[in-house]
Amino acid sequence: MVANPTVLFPQQAEAAAPATSEKLLAVENINLEYRTRERIVRATHDVSFDVYGGDRFVLLGPSGCGKSTLLKAVAGFIEPTSGSISLDGQIVRGPGADRIVVFQEFDQLPPWKTVLQNVAFPLRVAKKLSRAEANERALHYLEKVGLASFANAYPHTLSGGMKQRVAIARALAMQPRVLLMDEPFAALDALTRRKMQEELLRLWAEVKFTLLFVTHSIEEALVVGNRILLLSPHPGRVRAELNSHQYSQDSFGRSDFQRSVARIHHLLFEETEAGQ
Ligand SMILES: Nc1ncnc2c1ncn2[C@@H]1O[C@H](COP(=O)(O)OP(=O)(O)O)[C@@H](O)[C@H]1O
Ligand SMILES: [Mg+2]
Repeated sequence: MVANPTVLFPQQAEAAAPATSEKLLAVENINLEYRTRERIVRATHDVSFDVYGGDRFVLLGPSGCGKSTLLKAVAGFIEPTSGSISLDGQIVRGPGADRIVVFQEFDQLPPWKTVLQNVAFPLRVAKKLSRAEANERALHYLEKVGLASFANAYPHTLSGGMKQRVAIARALAMQPRVLLMDEPFAALDALTRRKMQEELLRLWAEVKFTLLFVTHSIEEALVVGNRILLLSPHPGRVRAELNSHQYSQDSFGRSDFQRSVARIHHLLFEETEAGQ
């Protein structure tokens, strides 16, 4: 077990300096629990991490290690039993438009609204924009994800990948301080998934947002993230923190990429098993 996060690739420590020096999100020693009538399930134990402006910070670990629970806590849906979460120095006490979540499920878009209405509606409600302003901003972000020509389509006419793009456009249009994504591409076929990873990186370079991204895929974490927090399960604990900014879509199959995959796999599974 690792008490403190370690940097896996110390030779890259300098280059891995956060994208900006501004600390946006501070998660400090949080314990998260679910209380059912029969028992208390401890989902995470003493998890800490910091996300800086412009980071693509990834929470990586096997199913059940508390990734979704952590993301829900950052979103403000779950209150930590101890520890604290703060955004821009303010303790998070509930949901807010400064943190928007994109989920894995394709049904996160109300089916009775068109694509444009789906993206514009939260802007009218939460940002109090007029219909014209909301539509204009919605179209702008639909263009960014390549779906402007589908503005008047209904969600059921779109593929899974297109629905996820709409969900991303809707989230980015809100201009959150941190975009939260919980395995957003996990239900897509492998080729579409790769394409979406590529598009997300392109969007990040273009729009410049801060991302907190959850995945159980080591390869996806290395491609999407600039920093990765490895979590081990039961309850979720920090196993290591590492830098991965050197990888992109082009890294697949390269030997250093494969070595990193193997090393993370070892940290997540073999050492844990040996240590138990
Ligand atoms: N609503 C819930 N009630 C009770 N236990 C839960 C609930 N949701 C998740 N858990 C438990 O909390 C732990 C972490 O779950 P979760 O955050 O969903 O993990 P991950 O997203 O990494 O797969 C697991 O042991 C899971 O069974
Ligand atoms: Mg999950």
